[in-house]
Amino acid sequence: MVNHMEVYEGKAKRIIPLDGEKAIMEFKDDATAFDGGKKAKFKGKGWLNAQISAHLFRVLEEKGIKTHFIGVAGDNRLIVERLEMYPLEVVVRNVVAGSLKKRLPLDEGTELKEPIVELYYKDDSLHDPMINHYHARVLGIGEAELREIERIALKVNDILREYFRERGIILVDFKLEFGKNSRGEIVLGDEISPDTCRFWDAKTKESLDKDVFRFDRGDLMKAYGELYRRFSP
Ligand code: TMP
Repeated sequence: MVNHMEVYEGKAKRIIPLDGEKAIMEFKDDATAFDGGKKAKFKGKGWLNAQISAHLFRVLEEKGIKTHFIGVAGDNRLIVERLEMYPLEVVVRNVVAGSLKKRLPLDEGTELKEPIVELYYKDDSLHDPMINHYHARVLGIGEAELREIERIALKVNDILREYFRERGIILVDFKLEFGKNSRGEIVLGDEISPDTCRFWDAKTKESLDKDVFRFDRGDLMKAYGELYRRFSP
């Protein structure tokens, strides 16, 4: 939670509060998977994820989504608005992959007839359990806030799905985090990168995301670089 002046160190990012309402979000070269059970460093990943996140935040801002993104601060750093984060990971899914295979009797790659939104409670000691609105309300997140968060998450899905479809990429699923700014507005925070999304090449179905690292499917920097390359016109 970024609500005071301490530096917050996460597994793949560092948040450095600045005076006023701003902070620096620094992307590290570290990658972790399976609850931190698998770790590695990829030179240049921090830079690439910062560029990809900045680009996607701009795409979303242009379509009217409020995000914490303010600007790029060089190399692997973004300037962002400081938010008081909800302790939630909001996952949106369009295609069956990852942990959804353990919940539904559907094969990997099956297109869902409508998107699925899932909430997870962000707590490493509990291994980020999936929760529902009842759990979230007990944790102090109001029903109206939950509905607004899910509404924004689905709008982000519509925008990004289309954006990637035009670039020959299937947006399989992704994770978002939200916070409140000093004016009490709910704002999209954190990052949107191949660390936090699944992207498949539409033709080859190859992963252009962190599954390359999770399941040793090849060269992670090549996959992330290819994703970034598709942004250029
Ligand atoms: P899952 O299939 O493992 O539940 O992941 C769903 C999506 O959420 C996938 O795009 C990866 C992303 N994600 C994160 O960003 N952080 C996490 O800790 C986990 C488990 C998933």
